[in-house]
Amino acid sequence: MNILIFNQKGGVGKTTTALNLGVGLSRLGKNRVTLVDLDPQTHLTVALGFQTERFTWNVTDWLTGRVGEPQIIDERLSLIAGHYDFSDAVEFTTVPNRDGVVIIDSPPVWNKTVARLMEQVDWIITPLEPEFMSTQGVSCLIKSMEKNHISREKLRLLLCRYDTRLITHREIREKLQQRFGDNLLGCVIRKSVRLAESPSYGWSIFDYAPDSAGASDYTALTQYWLKKFNKKIS
Ligand SMILES: Nc1ncnc2c1ncn2[C@@H]1O[C@H](COP(=O)(O)OP(=O)(O)OP(=O)(O)O)[C@@H](O)[C@H]1O
Ligand SMILES: [Mg+2]
Repeated sequence: MNILIFNQKGGVGKTTTALNLGVGLSRLGKNRVTLVDLDPQTHLTVALGFQTERFTWNVTDWLTGRVGEPQIIDERLSLIAGHYDFSDAVEFTTVPNRDGVVIIDSPPVWNKTVARLMEQVDWIITPLEPEFMSTQGVSCLIKSMEKNHISREKLRLLLCRYDTRLITHREIREKLQQRFGDNLLGCVIRKSVRLAESPSYGWSIFDYAPDSAGASDYTALTQYWLKKFNKKIS
């Protein structure tokens, strides 16, 4: 099962979602999880506490089929590290097979590699901020997907940095629901200082602040995906 985390807008919560959903699935699910850092900014690699220089085998090697092994984080979780020099023109035909769940954190840009991955993955999660322009952004994303013959059914929109007290956020959520229906996930990730702090310690939210709103929201997201695909993974 492959999931791509993508939004061409930057800073919306892609890496935070890749990290915490990945750790959540590895702990609450029965399958191995591989996190893949496709972003030359290498935020996911760094958020897991690694320096990218130490890796001689990285995401480019994985995509192009060069023999090597991911970094093992624990018995259920591994990382395929990012690299600052990752090129969007990397030639690959299919996403290399890995057991269990693969979660790919992408850069904030639509490029050839991202488009090819979108065709091949089972699901695309698009984190969004509850802003007026988000609806427009999703419309553009869906148009680009259609143009590239990528099924809209695999798209799931995830509202991040949501503030339940703000009327504007509730209104935007309703608008997204009306416009995009089942593409919008029922769970949201609330705005949480703990989520912003945790990457600097190299920890997931479950280790950094297990009782926080962020941990509770990423647990709910994890449970949604476990219910959805657990039976399908051998
Ligand atoms: N729910 C949240 N509440 C508060 N802060 C958050 C939340 N989610 C993410 N952040 C913080 O917002 C910033 C951007 O998040 P993140 O790095 O996950 O976004 P991104 O989409 O991966 O960015 P980029 O496009 O640059 O890769 C980070 O500092 C992160 O810690
Ligand atoms: Mg990121």
